[in-house]
Amino acid sequence: MKTTHLLTVRQLSAVQINTLLKEAAALKRKPLSRRTLSGKVIGLLFHKPSVRTRVSFEVGIRQLGGESLYLGSGDLGGASREAPRDLARVLCRYLDGIVARTFAQTDVTTLAEWSPIPVINGLTDSDHPCQALSDLLTIRERFGKLRGIGLAYIGDGNNVCRSLMEGAALTGIGMRVATPAGHAPDPATVAWCRGAARKSGGTLLLTRDPREAAEGAQVLYTDVWTSMGQEKERVRRLKAFRGFQINGPLMRRAARGAVFMHCLPAHRGEEVSSELLDSPASIVYDQAENRLHLQKAVWVSLFRSKQ
Ligand code: CP
Ligand code: NVA
Repeated sequence: MKTTHLLTVRQLSAVQINTLLKEAAALKRKPLSRRTLSGKVIGLLFHKPSVRTRVSFEVGIRQLGGESLYLGSGDLGGASREAPRDLARVLCRYLDGIVARTFAQTDVTTLAEWSPIPVINGLTDSDHPCQALSDLLTIRERFGKLRGIGLAYIGDGNNVCRSLMEGAALTGIGMRVATPAGHAPDPATVAWCRGAARKSGGTLLLTRDPREAAEGAQVLYTDVWTSMGQEKERVRRLKAFRGFQINGPLMRRAARGAVFMHCLPAHRGEEVSSELLDSPASIVYDQAENRLHLQKAVWVSLFRSKQ
């Protein structure tokens, strides 16, 4: 990676993604083969809860020889306590890298802008790049390739959907996104992805019909209908997303050997049936594991480009 930060998937090229996936696969085979973070301390700045992102980063940093320091919302206070630019300018005097989970994407871009140390986006309201890149690793592991794979995302056009769309567009995946009215991915992202897909050989279809998206797909993917920060909308959203659950009958429309993916945490019985999550078609725990390997590859890449 030429850049010093990882803030979105769309900042990457197809070549950079491929390099990251290769490095991640190598680290998965030999987890302790790199000491990239030896003597380094990474700060985890989390304004929202997390299990996978926090634990996979903390363990990955340790495996790379470094140490981590977790600062939750109680430590950080809100934006009213300190502007992100001041936080960045202070923290870079102590730390060697930052992973930030925030609400606004501008909070991570401001941290990166004012920080000479690498900043990784650990999820914002609009993007979840570490998740999408790990998902590409998982899909490639399963099918041996990305180009030409049929990927159906069914549910909310949210942060996870956006980063996945960008990753799919860059790597030649045929993606279909089914969302209810009012919950489609934003038009600017759709336009960007269509442009990238034209170059990579991918495609992007938007629909309101989950069955149309699922038909013949090799991967069916969903995420929660109510993301962190949207809790007050939960009742309205449950109603809006009725009929968008991924379950056995929908999976039967997919290709033979199709898999089910979910970034987790899942709400069993809402966006996915409990049986499907536990079925052999579900590869959600491989997905979760791959966060560890992929994020380690990101550190290797970011610190290589800094040298
Ligand atoms: N998928 C994911 O980012 O999970 P956490 O919110 O638990 O980190
Ligand atoms: N869309 C979800 C993803 C959680 C990993 C959220 O933002 O809450």
